[in-house]
Amino acid sequence: MQEEKTPYQLLGEQGIRALCDEFYNIMDTLPEAAGVRAMHARDLGPMKEKLAEYLIGWMGGPPIYASKYGTVCMTTPHEPYHIGPEERDQWLLCMDMALARTGASEEVVAMLKVPLFRIADAVRNREGPSAATTDPNIIAAG
Ligand code: HEM
Repeated sequence: MQEEKTPYQLLGEQGIRALCDEFYNIMDTLPEAAGVRAMHARDLGPMKEKLAEYLIGWMGGPPIYASKYGTVCMTTPHEPYHIGPEERDQWLLCMDMALARTGASEEVVAMLKVPLFRIADAVRNREGPSAATTDPNIIAAG
């Protein structure tokens, strides 16, 4: 039986870096993402790097983020921010658009959809989900 490839193998390190650059470029300019954009530092350069390093490990590649910063549970660095369903969905919308704009295959998009929703929802630290916003298909709707 053929072993299933990881998203890291499918996208490659350069692909994940390009995805994160595009993700923050979208966050920086998309009016619908203004809420989450405002939480971030003016210079998004360091976050492009950090998110890429984190996602490289999370997607099955080398644990660059963990070797630099230790094994960090993603809820911890997000504690200072107000992250409710709206902020979560803004983040997912940027990621959904970034996957499309960087030409990610349907296979990789399908593979990432539910895990990305789960991690974004785990980072959420405010209540208020409605039935509509807890639907993992939200990422496909953007
Ligand atoms: C759900 C909505 C989310 C919001 C609103 C959000 C917002 C933020 C903000 C405001 C920061 C600090 C940025 C700065 O210092 O300029 C941050 C850091 C970070 N976020 Fe998120 N985030 C979200 C989801 C996620 C998810 C799902 C992941 C991972 C897949 C993630 C990964 C990171 C990483 C790796 C950092 C850097 C942590 C560190 O300081 O080492 N975030 N996020």
